Amino acid sequence: MKRSEINAVLAECVQFCKAQNFNLPPFAFWSPEQWTKAGHEYDEIRDCRLGWDITDFGQGRFEEVGLSLFTIRNGSTKFAQYTKPYCEKLLIVGEGQVTPFHFHFSKIEDIICRAGGNLLVQVYNATEDEQLADTDVPVSIDGRRFTVAAGTILRLTPGESITLPQRNYHKFWGEEGKGKVLVGEVSAVNDDEVDNRFLEPLGRFPAIEEDEPPLYLLCNEYPPAPE
Ligand SMILES: [Fe+2]
Repeated sequence: MKRSEINAVLAECVQFCKAQNFNLPPFAFWSPEQWTKAGHEYDEIRDCRLGWDITDFGQGRFEEVGLSLFTIRNGSTKFAQYTKPYCEKLLIVGEGQVTPFHFHFSKIEDIICRAGGNLLVQVYNATEDEQLADTDVPVSIDGRRFTVAAGTILRLTPGESITLPQRNYHKFWGEEGKGKVLVGEVSAVNDDEVDNRFLEPLGRFPAIEEDEPPLYLLCNEYPPAPE
């Protein structure tokens, strides 16, 4: 993605959060310059990769295949000093903007349609060899357990949430004509380096073409603390 495109997406995300009365922590708005001065007291943000995460999954068509995330809190699988066993993210999902089929080896997650439009979630079980299974899928939506046919598209309206266990393939997007969706994710500790199995081989983080200075740094771009 071009940096100018990422900057525009970030500005839109900030505006959308404001419009939905969802407040982000102060470091969401730090300039790259401020990050160069942030001491070791902020190491948790760097080490646990809190903050902005804008991705086109390496497809170069962000509006159609892409996701905007802000990791609000997370533990770590690498650093023993961070003991949180949980993670919370904010996801901003456009109308028809797809997060492609993937499952997680280790984390269980709840995807919560918090505000805005409706979130459509398509689910499959995974086969032993990590393909889409044709078997019925057990579903849990807001404490109600039931079973749906493979490939069913579930509609979450604002307030509703689905629990996605490990090895449950899911794909989601905002319902067309209903507006952008403010989505929450509450999960076990998240490690994007190793825990995502995409059905089609995809990049998790975009390659960035620097055509203007960054508005905000992404969670994998923080400079180390000054000594
Ligand atoms: Fe997921």
